[in-house]
Amino acid sequence: MLKEEILKRRTFGIISHPDAGKTTLTEKLLLYGGAIQEAGAVKSNKIKKGATSDFMEIEKQRGISVATSVLAFLYKNKKINILDTPGHKDFSEETFRTLTAVDSVIVVIDVAKGVEKQTEKLVEVCRMRKIPIIVFVNKLDREGKDAYDLLDEIEKKLKLKISPLTFPIGMGIDFKGIYNLWERNINVFLTEEKQKISKTNLFNSLEDNKLTDLISEKSLKTLKEDLELLETVYPKFSEEEYLKGDLQPVFFGSALNNFGVKELLDCFINIAPPPRPKECEERIVNPEENVFSGFVFKIHANMDPNHRNRIAFIKVVSGKFERNTPYLHVRLKKKFKYSSPNEFFANKKQIINTSFPGDIIGLHDTGNFIIGDTITSGEKINFKGIPSFSPEHFKYINNEDAMKSKQLNKGIDQLMDEGVAQLFILSLNNRKIIGTVGALQYDVIKYRLEHEYGAKCSYENVNFYKACWVESIDEKSEEFIEFKRTKNKFLGKDKLNKLVFFADSLFTLQMTKEKFPKIKFHINSEF
Ligand code: G4P
Repeated sequence: MLKEEILKRRTFGIISHPDAGKTTLTEKLLLYGGAIQEAGAVKSNKIKKGATSDFMEIEKQRGISVATSVLAFLYKNKKINILDTPGHKDFSEETFRTLTAVDSVIVVIDVAKGVEKQTEKLVEVCRMRKIPIIVFVNKLDREGKDAYDLLDEIEKKLKLKISPLTFPIGMGIDFKGIYNLWERNINVFLTEEKQKISKTNLFNSLEDNKLTDLISEKSLKTLKEDLELLETVYPKFSEEEYLKGDLQPVFFGSALNNFGVKELLDCFINIAPPPRPKECEERIVNPEENVFSGFVFKIHANMDPNHRNRIAFIKVVSGKFERNTPYLHVRLKKKFKYSSPNEFFANKKQIINTSFPGDIIGLHDTGNFIIGDTITSGEKINFKGIPSFSPEHFKYINNEDAMKSKQLNKGIDQLMDEGVAQLFILSLNNRKIIGTVGALQYDVIKYRLEHEYGAKCSYENVNFYKACWVESIDEKSEEFIEFKRTKNKFLGKDKLNKLVFFADSLFTLQMTKEKFPKIKFHINSEF
């Protein structure tokens, strides 16, 4: 029973550079699942595009993640969970965290723009973690790069070994359809009915007379040549290699026109992995284990501005989660029951009674959770893999309304729990420093403090280059005492009270490392 449920689940993330078509693709996938009837349901939550200011970018990003943090739907007896990953670079830390909760990813690439920076970074993380990757080349209805050049670019820039499973017939105004190498048929592109599930115009043989009526003989000839070439140039697809993260299938299509999406989805549910074992500090946890375990990979506060609420998103790793059952919050060493755990079907929330590995549950939280927390049936384990990285930007945060200092502190604490940024306290003067990955977060924090907590803040620049977590084998050693004495002005604590050294430049960091060889300086908190 548990095993059956596990085998039914596919939990994945779609990653892309902004505007490559992630939202559009998500929406079309939901259409197949019958989760929404009309395209536009996901999109309408997105703040209208076209605004140029960075600030609107925040709203847009927040708009997307609020509406589509998690989307579940059923398709051909598979339960599919899509996890949203913000595309904007300033939100990349959130994306990295979400990647700890997926079992595979689909990477969307814009045929005209090719491989973009943000995609490179995210794919690198997936590659390192051996997450199975499927590539979807989007916007074939537009003029773009030559398919072979693009495949070359994907291999080189993303360092992937690829095997096309569909291949386009023409492009832009000449886009005639795609050949499906997986199912060995041709789907001819007709533009009507693009917002609904259109009837496909499938042909099983290249020799079908009707096919030449729809696509020219010239196109057909090119396709035949392409197919021969593809076989010689690219490795044959192997599911085993894909699952090991060693081979990546590529699909072509147009999400907007709902073309090539079904091919992608049908193959996806066949090859994408069900929930996989996950490493914790103590051991490896298998989904089939009977006892429940899961971890928090995302926290979202104040999703509804009219109600103060906060939801912790938990990925179920093993066993069965049940409503109203006491589970151990490992870090707090306390048991809690959850009376209204939520699941997210399309863009609706609903209370669930049970969840299985691969599922994402939203738990109402009154401030007990931070990102990375583990909950279990009773075992004291800690899931790995959600480290904090050194921020790139640092600013002092000041209170601008003396009457609201309580609100300000509460707001800062909650936003940090959500993982929006990191808070440090500089030992020298006890002042609060906010560290972020991108500059946009400062605007987000300021805006949210004001609108959600009624507090006002201002920032002051601090000239730091990196925050390094300090590890010393012997805290009583002369070297460590000397380090603390001479670097006193540059020391602080993170939220968990861990010692942090702020280097003001790469040069200082190198000099400090040389001067104190027995002390280790880590640029992420998990060492
Ligand atoms: P994102 O989530 O990755 O940021 O991308 P999103 O889906 O929002 O798509 C970005 C833009 O690209 C949208 O246009 C969308 O309609 C368009 N798009 C997506 N897929 C295709 C496709 O297959 N072909 C073509 N031609 N365009 C596609 P927009 O004008 O920015 O937004 P909207 O006004 O359509 O909402």
